[in-house]
Amino acid sequence: MENQTKTILVTGGAGFIGSHLVRLLVNKYPNYKIVNFDKLTYAGNLFNITDIENAPNYVFEKGDIVETEHLDKVFSKYDFDGVIHLAAESHVDRSIAHPTEFIVTNIVGTVNLLNAAKHAWKDNFEGKTFYHVSTDEVYGSLGDEGFFLEDTSYDPRSPYSASKASSDHLVRAYFHTYGLPVKISNCSNNYGPNQFPEKLLPLFIHNIKNNKALPVYGEGLNIRDWLWVKDHAVAIDNIYHNGVLGETYNIGGHNEWKNIDLIHKLCELMDQKLGREAGSSAGLITYVKDRAGHDMRYAIDATKIEKDLGWVPSIQFEEGLSLTIDWYLENEEWLDSVTSGDYQKYYDEQYNKREFV
Ligand code: NAD
Ligand code: DAU
Repeated sequence: MENQTKTILVTGGAGFIGSHLVRLLVNKYPNYKIVNFDKLTYAGNLFNITDIENAPNYVFEKGDIVETEHLDKVFSKYDFDGVIHLAAESHVDRSIAHPTEFIVTNIVGTVNLLNAAKHAWKDNFEGKTFYHVSTDEVYGSLGDEGFFLEDTSYDPRSPYSASKASSDHLVRAYFHTYGLPVKISNCSNNYGPNQFPEKLLPLFIHNIKNNKALPVYGEGLNIRDWLWVKDHAVAIDNIYHNGVLGETYNIGGHNEWKNIDLIHKLCELMDQKLGREAGSSAGLITYVKDRAGHDMRYAIDATKIEKDLGWVPSIQFEEGLSLTIDWYLENEEWLDSVTSGDYQKYYDEQYNKREFV
């Protein structure tokens, strides 16, 4: 398979998961051409992929999936065998503050991309694949028991998850209506290097380092299922190459953590790594008003991808968390570059608006 020639469009390849995926594909498939199409929003940063920017099988194209002419241009410039679609607005809190941006990018952008692929492939889909990378949040919120399965009914609760659910539905609609060869995966919370520091782990690492408060939503009892980002990239590669067209695959780490337990674990490791007195980072924990519509628990049953495609997570969480902390502490330049300017202003404004309890 590595010797075949393919041209693959990856959208959102300058973001957190996309950058790990692009690196994997560029290094693993020297005969492929990997075209990274990204608008470079606040969350997209070419700093994430400087190590492969000069690789002969890699090209970056700046563009917006909402702008059909940008898509027409890139689809007429290259003859794509496949599309792996990650470009999205991805942060739940932002979707609560600015829902329309999520509708436009995640729904309209996805339809534009579906249309561009369908049009470019002239309804001749032999050997083509359109793969949508989605989230477990489409399934809604679990109680104490049970897991999300591929056939769990959709029940999104936030503007972000509703926009991703809608884009999943549209991808399936193009499969059933036009025969577009699609695949979808729904993954749990990713963690690791290069995640924008508005999400829980990089934000809290950044705040602990700078002795800033750690804003825990509600009582910190919500549960997330954490997966090492590079394991997600391996799963996407596997599904792209081996997954069955028209199918959905759930991806998760069998690694559920109550937020407050995870935060205490993080604080403990940060105290050790920063040489601070035990308990000093935990002293920064500050309970704030809960996120509106905060889903209580996510947990993935990943049996299908494990059994059908032989994918399993490669790394234990304690090791991954330690590697993650080390990466952020060693990459201050990256952190400074992404948190300077507009972002810091946005964060300070949002943070100052939070109600403390
Ligand atoms: P991210 O916010 O880090 O990156 C998103 C990327 O998309 C950025 O590079 C951004 O510049 C680009 N982008 C945004 N709008 C665009 C547009 N209109 N045109 C072109 N590019 C645009 O997101 P992430 O965390 O890497 O998530 C990637 C995908 O995976 C998303 O679709 C998300 O819904 C999904 N996902 C994320 C997680 C997670 O835990 N982070 C889990 C499951 C699924
Ligand atoms: O489940 C997959 C999803 O995981 C992805 O689809 C999303 O793109 C990704 O952002 C993530 O969504 P979450 O909302 O779960 O991630 P976040 O890091 O924002 O929050 C994780 C948990 O921590 C959640 O229960 C809210 C809580 N939290 C978050 C922040 C930013 C806090 O208590 N305080 C905070 O400041």
